Amino acid sequence: MGSVRYLLCSRGLFHLSKSSCMNTLVSRPGSRTRRFSVSSRCTTVMPAWVIDTYGNNDVLRFTKNASFPVINYPNEVIVKVFAAGLNPLDVSMRGGHGAATLSMKRDPLNIKQTGSEFPLVLGRDVSGVIMECGLDVKYFRERDEVWAAIPPWKQGSLAEFVVLSGNEVSHKPKSLSHTEAAAIPFVAMTAWSALVNTGGLSKDNCAKKRILILGGSGGVGTFSIQMLKAWGAHVTVTCSQNAEQFLRGLGADHVVDYTAGPVEEPLSALEKFDLILDNVGGDTERWALNLLKPWSGAKYVTLVTPFLQNTDRLGIADGMMQTAATVATKALKHLVKGVHYRWGLFAPSGPALDEVREMVDAGQIMTDNRVGLCCLCSAPLCVLSVRYGLWWRRLSAFPRSRRPLRRWRRGMLEERLWSRSAKGDKTDSTKK
Ligand SMILES: NC(=O)c1ccc[n+]([C@@H]2O[C@H](COP(=O)([O-])OP(=O)(O)OC[C@H]3O[C@@H](n4cnc5c(N)ncnc54)[C@H](OP(=O)(O)O)[C@@H]3O)[C@@H](O)[C@H]2O)c1
Repeated sequence: MGSVRYLLCSRGLFHLSKSSCMNTLVSRPGSRTRRFSVSSRCTTVMPAWVIDTYGNNDVLRFTKNASFPVINYPNEVIVKVFAAGLNPLDVSMRGGHGAATLSMKRDPLNIKQTGSEFPLVLGRDVSGVIMECGLDVKYFRERDEVWAAIPPWKQGSLAEFVVLSGNEVSHKPKSLSHTEAAAIPFVAMTAWSALVNTGGLSKDNCAKKRILILGGSGGVGTFSIQMLKAWGAHVTVTCSQNAEQFLRGLGADHVVDYTAGPVEEPLSALEKFDLILDNVGGDTERWALNLLKPWSGAKYVTLVTPFLQNTDRLGIADGMMQTAATVATKALKHLVKGVHYRWGLFAPSGPALDEVREMVDAGQIMTDNRVGLCCLCSAPLCVLSVRYGLWWRRLSAFPRSRRPLRRWRRGMLEERLWSRSAKGDKTDSTKK
């Protein structure tokens, strides 16, 4: 079976990639045609962190025998991972969150057996180098430095290589190292989707708009503040007291501390808003929509939606019906009051990342290291932790009293991490 699969894979690659010969896909160190080296001599496997079932940290397993990614469509590219990033979504996916919807997206006709998504590779951000291009890929060439946000239904970046659609990939900002670049794409595309695709904002219509971000100190919040300030908006945020200086440093005009008491009161005393981005959820919907300017096209966009929980709990058909009913009811309820209620959902986009790259290279978007957040000391911890298999344990055990430090979860693997860790691991090992 394995050899049949190998034949099929190599055939697909041969026809769809620009390489004239399969052997050039993974060249040996020192090759003249490709200057990439892989940690395995075999062209069908690569090292990766995988999970074989949903569960807690113990399900994570490091293997040197994960399947090598294959170009299945002519618009796809294979990226060699130089740095990878984790998001809260990876942690919840490890536990099975969204499994029903994501499995349907991977296998819409439901041909494969339950559990066919395993071994599953997590990691939603990647910065690396294009290794191979499909026949239709015109925008990229091999060896281009790229970054991307990886959709949750695709194999992630905690591996030596990842295959993505060319539309999801963008050239990496020149001003950032791979490690810094891997901190941005997933939160950037989530914020972009919520603010631009759903909220209707753009650099041309943002000037002087009043925006409120609930939960401004997280990944999505810190990116959104910087992008909106670059576009000329007036930005108010809520966060805990210890993040206030940090957010003011990013450009927030007004900061409200949610740990000092209910935020409804201080926020109600302010001028009303044109758009609210809700990163917190819970009972915020009860009061936040009253803070919008009525009958002026003002929008409330929440990133905290029950969509994946509904399909996990009720199955695809019932879950989607329940989801549609919920969002339609809420949208109508608020429409009669003159404000728009919307759900924001992550959407990958290479062209949007191109625009983010321009903002990064212009110094309008900064990563943790450049704003001096504690990530400076946490990034090396992350690298060490990955090498010794402690990364995930630390991720979930991180003390809540040091919350700003949590941003290191999007922290990074140093270049060639996999080849180095492979040297230290003679055999496959579990995370324990
Ligand atoms: N719909 C989608 O496709 C999608 C995609 C990605 C993410 N999301 C969701 O978007 C949200 C934001 O993501 P993220 O990556 O930015 O998460 P994150 O980094 O964990 O940030 C959440 C932030 O919310 C703050 N917070 C918690 N409770 C708060 C409250 N009551 N009032 C104000 N701030 C509060 C925390 O600040 P402190 O540390 O200061 O307490 C934390 O920094 C998450 O809920 C995530 O699940 C949705």
